[in-house]
Amino acid sequence: MMTETEVFRVAGLAGEKKLSGTIAVSGSKNEALPLLASALLFGDPVRFANMPQISDIESMRTLLESIGVVSESKEHTLTVDARGISKEPFNRDVARKFRASVIATGPLLARTGEVVFPPPGGCLIGKRPIDVFLSGYEKMGATVSVLDDGEVFRITAPEGGLRGAHIIFRVQSVTGTEALLMAAVLAHGTTTLENVALEPEVTALAEALCACGAKIDGIGTTTLVITGTGGVPLSFGDRSPIAVIPDRIEAGSFIVLGALCAENLTITNCATKHLSLPLEMLRDAGVSFEATDTTVTISNNTKANKVFRSLQIRTHEYPGFPTDLQAPMSIFATQATGESVVEEMIFEGRLGYLEDIARMGANIVIADSHKAIITGPMKLTGRELYSPDLRAGLAYIIAALVAKGTSHIYNIHYIERGYEHIEEKLRGIGVAIERAVV
Ligand code: EPU
Repeated sequence: MMTETEVFRVAGLAGEKKLSGTIAVSGSKNEALPLLASALLFGDPVRFANMPQISDIESMRTLLESIGVVSESKEHTLTVDARGISKEPFNRDVARKFRASVIATGPLLARTGEVVFPPPGGCLIGKRPIDVFLSGYEKMGATVSVLDDGEVFRITAPEGGLRGAHIIFRVQSVTGTEALLMAAVLAHGTTTLENVALEPEVTALAEALCACGAKIDGIGTTTLVITGTGGVPLSFGDRSPIAVIPDRIEAGSFIVLGALCAENLTITNCATKHLSLPLEMLRDAGVSFEATDTTVTISNNTKANKVFRSLQIRTHEYPGFPTDLQAPMSIFATQATGESVVEEMIFEGRLGYLEDIARMGANIVIADSHKAIITGPMKLTGRELYSPDLRAGLAYIIAALVAKGTSHIYNIHYIERGYEHIEEKLRGIGVAIERAVV
């Protein structure tokens, strides 16, 4: 029996820059997820504002619900109450659905002394091991057991709770830093985390926890020193809700979309300070825009007077070029004149989508799993595209718009994981995108 599949049908602009208007950026997925998990550290309800309405947030809420956490949403504000927390294992099916489920292991272990969870799932972008988390918890005195042939991990804190430790990260893991930071906030004594990730989402999480009474020194540097509360939960009290920072990846993707497809486009609700390098690279490549602290405006970007130059895209931990913007930027490279080199240094499986882009007509040589060479500009033709992850999914929408003809984008559940109301937002600037059942 044939099953029906929902896809995005996108009408291409055949290289014309016809879009215009204003498009707003939502709250950052990758800050919202650890913030939600941080509710486990509190003895009273916590409130968040600017929460993106995306399926990863719903998954995190369902995961937390499976261990007794109640959350209530009102538009973009969310109240999360962990007073009824239990020692139940995580709901396996939900935890497997998204990689970020592993972030919750840190605060849960610190709060209840035990966490039972399956290896986390997520997008198809590489191996994504969790050794950094496990070895960090062990350094804090926890015992890690692998059960059911590797299908379940059980981590147990020592008698009396996690103990402060000196932990040096083998890799600057974003979610690893977030999980261990949260574990350390409730531990006994002082924890030093060295070689931590500097991504704005990590910094924003640390600042939010500090504002609620956690003691964290070194925020914004690669060494964090956390003085634990000795098991005493944080108190939120009647503070104003913590506002999630703008999503820099959504903002960066919209800027690429504007450069390639819009005559005039204003992107609002951004934090441009988190996009310094991508903006610099786009400016060097010939994109003209005006940036304020919170907006980017592309104007008079007509085909006649715009030729973009090729660029070097080498992903790196922040403040380097974000791996999550590599796919949209590579679509830009297909329309730039000359040879662009794309080097994916964070994940080994994140260039596969380029095969689909090559099938649309781009001139792409994938040298190995970390490197590709894109020579442009090339005309693209619409086709069927199967998103391997959410970031490539949005890049496919951009490629489909650049192309001539209609594209059908499959696996839209990936796109919905990270982008709020994407069809409505795009329609608002003139994109012909619709949901179709095929
Ligand atoms: N790594 C290990 N061992 C670990 C953890 C990570 O070897 O225990 C490796 C990874 O395999 C990778 C590197 O360290 O090669 C960095 O991975 P990191 O842990 O920083 O990635 P992550 O925390 O799983 C977050 C974002 C990703 C983003 C990366 C890199 C969240 C929820 N996810 O993932 O976002 O690509 O940092 O910036 O914050 C996305 O939003 O689409 C997305 C994939």
